[in-house]
Amino acid sequence: MHAAWLPPEAWRAIGTRPARVDGEGLLVQTVLDELNAAHAAFGGGPGAPQLVLALSPTADGGPEGYSLGRSDGVTTVLAEAPAGLLYGLFHVVRLGEAAFADDFPATVHRPVHARRMLDHWDNVDRHPVMGQVERGYSGGSIFWRDGVALRDEARVKAYARLVAATGINAVAVNNVNVHATEAHLLTDRLDEVAWLADVFRPYGIRVHLSVSFNAPMLLGGLPTADPLDPSVAAWWAAVTKNVYDAIPDFGGYVVKADSEGQPGPFGYGRSHADGANVLADALAPYGGVVHWRAFVYNHRQDWRDRSTDRARAAYDHFAPLDGQFRDNVILQVKYGPIDFQTREPVSPVIAAMARTRVAVELQVTQEYTGQQQHVCYLGPQWSETLSFPLAEPRTVSELSTGGLVAVSNVGDDEYWTGHPLAQANLYAFGRLAWDPTLSPSAVLDEWISLTFPGAEAVLRETLHAMMDHSWRTYELYTAPLGVGFMVKPHYHYGPDIDGYEYSPWGTYHFADRDGIGVDRTRATGTGYTGQYPPPWCDIYESLSTCPDELLLFFHHVPYGHVLHSGKTVIQHIYDTHFEGVERVRALRPLWERVAGLVDPALHARVAERLDEQLRCAIEWRDQINTYFYRKSGVPDAHGRTIYA
Ligand code: GCU
Repeated sequence: MHAAWLPPEAWRAIGTRPARVDGEGLLVQTVLDELNAAHAAFGGGPGAPQLVLALSPTADGGPEGYSLGRSDGVTTVLAEAPAGLLYGLFHVVRLGEAAFADDFPATVHRPVHARRMLDHWDNVDRHPVMGQVERGYSGGSIFWRDGVALRDEARVKAYARLVAATGINAVAVNNVNVHATEAHLLTDRLDEVAWLADVFRPYGIRVHLSVSFNAPMLLGGLPTADPLDPSVAAWWAAVTKNVYDAIPDFGGYVVKADSEGQPGPFGYGRSHADGANVLADALAPYGGVVHWRAFVYNHRQDWRDRSTDRARAAYDHFAPLDGQFRDNVILQVKYGPIDFQTREPVSPVIAAMARTRVAVELQVTQEYTGQQQHVCYLGPQWSETLSFPLAEPRTVSELSTGGLVAVSNVGDDEYWTGHPLAQANLYAFGRLAWDPTLSPSAVLDEWISLTFPGAEAVLRETLHAMMDHSWRTYELYTAPLGVGFMVKPHYHYGPDIDGYEYSPWGTYHFADRDGIGVDRTRATGTGYTGQYPPPWCDIYESLSTCPDELLLFFHHVPYGHVLHSGKTVIQHIYDTHFEGVERVRALRPLWERVAGLVDPALHARVAERLDEQLRCAIEWRDQINTYFYRKSGVPDAHGRTIYA
């Protein structure tokens, strides 16, 4: 398995310097073990310490923060709690030699988000349709295979170490779609979760579990899972006590309820606050939390019905419940109102829950962004989302009071993420969850330095050239102007413009011979713009102020509509799709330049995916351009090839 961003060489600066560690506890032991391993590798040993890591009650930084500085030839990390020492150590790794060069004043570093969580959509059984990992593009699960717990300690430990180095401190180990086998992780297969918790614990990571809302019936033999039934509450309390007996630092439950076929409180005529609170009450005595997902919508919509708008659903369900959730309920809201599209406005739910803890959910796994076949560095998307002033002046990150969550992209693939460059997305999520104000390009630079220690300038420049704008490139050759989808149904890879147009999923573009887009205005459409606080409710409502990149998400316009860019919609579609392919075409020659500078097997893996990306981008370009040429009859102003 690939060392990702912690190859031995990344530890050279530390491994050659004598160090001292003051403190006790499990995580302090981890720090010692890491230092010992680095010293063993690089011959560093006894002597006057040049690196000191010490617990100190007066260190500022809270439960996970630390101060880091260098004076008189000694680099010092001080922390109030052991987790801070571990994060401080990884900071020193990131700095490398710079940590031991000139003196620098001590500064305090503390995470912006208290909980920084990865959700695994891993199944215990190989699901007949979704496979071992739902929306997984990196092979099988690192936890389970074909119904059996793998208990691959080396692998899980390596993963814990990698993600801890980015700042992750929580992992949900199983799919939010909880099938029959996986439901048992809560009770008779709890030992499998406890085993994982034991491996994650030394890296400061707590384990969470996705549970079925119907568990009292499925596992407990109760006649109902009605959250207001006292026997149901008692069952959850008893089961949760057992969980904490086995895993004293268990993080809590993740629940996908009344969503895409999963059971939920609606089945018992109860609200989502009732549903979430029964679990919250069971967890509260132990300090656990429920991540209750807001991804609730009608997935059996009739495409003929123009009054139902999937984008509205989460707000319509949850905004009226604000104030009714227990303190240890965290409403987990996807960043956009639809489903992890390449471009969506941010979800208005994030601003609608002033009295509820909210965690924004991002998707590291590239379900809709090229499935780890395409280079698509998502740092810029997340940075843009998190810094968006949704409830001015408060940003999405500031409104995300319950932490940040993302769906992991990891599998048992030797590069962890299928596409080796997709490792950067996993790295970036952790770093941005720790500090959302970091620049995505600087984060990418960190990833490059760690992953390719001593990278020559040409390698660094090449990776930046390939990755910095790769999200934008992906957007150029796929669905235009925020309209979303147009992907192959079920797989969500490659173009199928009408694939979802007459489906029950509520994701339509409404293209006809005159125009395209979804009218979500209050004036003439579904009224979705009204879910936003000012000024966004007005900015999105008006054609004159709606940003180009979201135009078709909010408006249905004629092909001749002129964008702020000065181009018509149809010419924009043609231009972006030609440009997108040319940008992808440039990637392979760039990558060839660095053939001798990276491991040949890694080089070959990336090269093979770049070829697939180009094939797929061309397919997107030609299907999109031809489709809209046929619909509109408007030729390309530059006379390029469009297959009529
Ligand atoms: C998407 C994805 C599903 C997943 C769902 C979710 O719809 O395609 O596979 O289960 O999101 O987030 O629950």
